[in-house]
Amino acid sequence: MAKKKIIVTIDGWSSCGKSTLAKQLAKVLGYVYVDSGAMYRAITLYFLRNHIDWTDTNEVDIALRNISIEFHYNEVSQQSEIFLNGENVEYVIRDLVIAEKVSDVAAIEAVRSFAVAQQQNLGKKKGIVMDGRDIGTTVFPHAELKIFMTADTVVRVERRFKELYSKNPNITIEEVKNNLEMRDYIDSNRKISPLRKAEDAIEIDNTNLNMDEQLRIAIDMTEKKLKTLA
Ligand code: DC
Repeated sequence: MAKKKIIVTIDGWSSCGKSTLAKQLAKVLGYVYVDSGAMYRAITLYFLRNHIDWTDTNEVDIALRNISIEFHYNEVSQQSEIFLNGENVEYVIRDLVIAEKVSDVAAIEAVRSFAVAQQQNLGKKKGIVMDGRDIGTTVFPHAELKIFMTADTVVRVERRFKELYSKNPNITIEEVKNNLEMRDYIDSNRKISPLRKAEDAIEIDNTNLNMDEQLRIAIDMTEKKLKTLA
């Protein structure tokens, strides 16, 4: 479908389906999909495993020099997976232990500079769909298409609970709700690149949309944008 390659950014609140949409849209367009949140989660995993005191700037700087992050496409799962220093950490970074700390780690200036530089590098050739919190505002402020996703909090909690419960039946809905609200608060109130809708972003509220419906909307938006650029 796409002739000219563009950058599509998908930002929004935690657990409102950004990754699902971004993955599907990238597939339809034949674009690369990058989950920027996975990078912050992988850095958090490294910090926790190595007992890094992230309130100490020096320790953070040294730790970041020892972190290498790569994405590799897995033919079996048919998805892009994240590797931390050569280890596939795609599944371990989804744990609630990581979710509890990731917003604090993602608020650190050095961490953001480290991640943003790599994200910008991945987008150099365009033909990319990247989801996160600051992709349309900071990482790719000149992206051709910016989507901002929202959904009712109750719906978001239910969706995330289902996902986490399938891996850990001991998890409670309260834990998931508290984590979601805490992350929303920290992500939108931090000093550097807080979560906000870019002025030129188009909003999709998917509270009452299924996956096919939201994908259709995003495809239509992309086709419309590509026509204006043709
Ligand atoms: O999308 P996610 O839930 O996997 O993201 C995990 C955390 O990473 C999220 O709470 C905030 C942070 N994040 C960020 O600060 N900037 C991004 N571009 C992506 C994620």
